[in-house]
Amino acid sequence: MSGELDPRLLTRAREVVAAITGFRDDAISAEAVERAVRAELSRGRSSGDLLGELIHPMSPLATTLVRAVLVGETYFFRQPEHFRFIASEGVPAALRRGALALRGWSAGCATGEEAYSLAACLQASLPHGFPVEVLGTDLHEASLETARRATYGTWSRRESAPKLFPLYVETGERQVTILPVVRRVTTFAQANLLAPLPERFGRFDFILCRNVLTYFTPAARDAAISLLSRTLNPGGLLFLGAVEVDRVPPGMVREGPPELQAFRLLGPGESAAPSPRARAAVGARAPALALRPISPPVPAPVRVAAAVPPVPSRLHLTALERIEEGDEVGATAVLEALVRQSPDYLPGLLELALLRERSGAREAAVPLMRALRSRAERLPPDQLVDGPEALPARFYQASADAYLNQGTLE
Ligand SMILES: C[S@@+](CC[C@H](N)C(=O)[O-])C[C@H]1O[C@@H](n2cnc3c(N)ncnc32)[C@H](O)[C@@H]1O
Repeated sequence: MSGELDPRLLTRAREVVAAITGFRDDAISAEAVERAVRAELSRGRSSGDLLGELIHPMSPLATTLVRAVLVGETYFFRQPEHFRFIASEGVPAALRRGALALRGWSAGCATGEEAYSLAACLQASLPHGFPVEVLGTDLHEASLETARRATYGTWSRRESAPKLFPLYVETGERQVTILPVVRRVTTFAQANLLAPLPERFGRFDFILCRNVLTYFTPAARDAAISLLSRTLNPGGLLFLGAVEVDRVPPGMVREGPPELQAFRLLGPGESAAPSPRARAAVGARAPALALRPISPPVPAPVRVAAAVPPVPSRLHLTALERIEEGDEVGATAVLEALVRQSPDYLPGLLELALLRERSGAREAAVPLMRALRSRAERLPPDQLVDGPEALPARFYQASADAYLNQGTLE
């Protein structure tokens, strides 16, 4: 199917993808978005219908668009220096801290090669039977299904990344299968790096988040790193891709050479500033050699991930549960209380407006959308707004715009 597409639809599609993934606009493939939009139109849907659906951040169409733009390139033991460092430095340090089990997270794991590589690395670096667990998460469910199958072709093996630790066995002419011992300790779950990882997944000693943040806006990248660091055990290590950050994340210090992009979460009472003795030793060169923290030397207080969610999000979650149970009256009552109590909580305004719209009360939805737009306009567009999912202010502004301009669609 060819022909001109409604530019407002393409713009909105890109905004939705950017808001959900955290991607910069130039990291969103125009062809992928167009292809996905054309596929929907070829099913007989109109541009107006698609625009209407895209008002809601969690719509099926939004999911389809996100899937279309995600890039899942990965292979075993990619950036082998990270695995070597974990084996030679990270694991011994964790054992010295008295760890009784070691847990890793491959955040943005695509089809799972990184998660299995981390599990194999930990197992090979520890005494036999020492408890190890690795979690792999990604936004893309189809990639996670591939990961769970644990069978890979030649594309997952590259000469630039040697097989450092026992990981798989050949099970076909061009096919390998992950060793049962590695597979047993590795699990996969869908998760967005812009949202806090649910508490049930616990904390980690090693997090690999590589070749993911490179697509993100600076604000989304910082938000994701902050969420990642909150799930580390004190002393735990975060490994990022080669060019993904140019400074040390708050509350962390660099480990190993700068090009390793490895960061350690400071323990309680530990300071990022060099000790007075070290300062005296490096003398006038201290500023250049210092760890370039972007926060004050004392680590920023690390908020415990969602242990006590802020009240607006908690009420919001209650409303979402009611909506899921089909209790729209109950959900409306909770959302009305939420909007009265926290009129600046943008996700609440949007949720209530959409609920009213769905129940046919457009006249009650419009003032809420206007309030949403005027409040969102006052924030920097890239500022992430807390909610069940952290989304930038521009997302809320664009949602309200799209809704309020609906009369002019088609
Ligand atoms: C290029 S792959 C990198 C895979 C692996 N980390 C590696 O370095 O080989 C990037 C992965 O990040 C995932 N991703 C992108 N944005 C994400 C987000 N906001 N939350 C979770 N995963 C995301 C994509 O689906 C994709 O599978």
